Amino acid sequence: MRESTMMTHDEIIPVITIDGPSASGKGTVAQRVAKELGFHYLDSGALYRLVALKSLQEDADITDEGALVEIAANLDVVFENSDIYLDGKQVTDAIRTEQCGALASRLASCQSIRESLIARQRAFRQLPGLVTDGRDMGSVIFPDAVLKVYLTAGADVRAQRRYKQLIEKGISANIDSLQEEICKRDERDSNRKVAPLQKCLDARLLDTTSLSILQAQNRVLEWYRACNATEERI
Ligand code: CDP
Repeated sequence: MRESTMMTHDEIIPVITIDGPSASGKGTVAQRVAKELGFHYLDSGALYRLVALKSLQEDADITDEGALVEIAANLDVVFENSDIYLDGKQVTDAIRTEQCGALASRLASCQSIRESLIARQRAFRQLPGLVTDGRDMGSVIFPDAVLKVYLTAGADVRAQRRYKQLIEKGISANIDSLQEEICKRDERDSNRKVAPLQKCLDARLLDTTSLSILQAQNRVLEWYRACNATEERI
């Protein structure tokens, strides 16, 4: 019997994954690339931050895995343009605090919490395409992505970027403690057993330490267009 070469409905929908460490700018670049291509956008980190926020709101016992999985599986979330609603309340900025980020990173090391968020993430794969950012988008959630990017930058540059981002949102911040928190989070995200932060072998490295957002965005777009040109020639 011949093996079928037919693509499934999902496989036809192109996905660009942008994974990388905390505050590397991957969210901004992913959003801009999505806008440029008219694709959908998924900020997977927001889901982990939402689980963290809801756990804080409910004063959940963070050692109680069952309770946390319950929270993750039943999140009532709406993504609308650039806003995020949890239980009908706008939490766009509330999930961006370092407290939420740090708790998100702790919860994200739990396999069953990750599993309970998989279907929700894959549901974002819709026509005409998806750009997504996170830690395991290319390795676990969308392994058949047409383009995988590992976007990074030096820790000091990332701390400065995160500082600017928080201050612009009116959230107070201290650059030294931010850098310390970012390094701690990198270490936890890279060394966990499940879906660790890593550059997949088939991902392209984009070091943005000395690149502007526009330059980074254009590099991803060039790579994507080159992938398409290659596919068309085949
Ligand atoms: O904005 P930042 O890059 O600092 O973090 P984020 O993308 O909002 O993600 C917050 C935390 O969620 C990360 O530190 C990861 O531990 C976790 N995360 C994950 O494990 N897998 C993802 N696909 C996305 C985020």
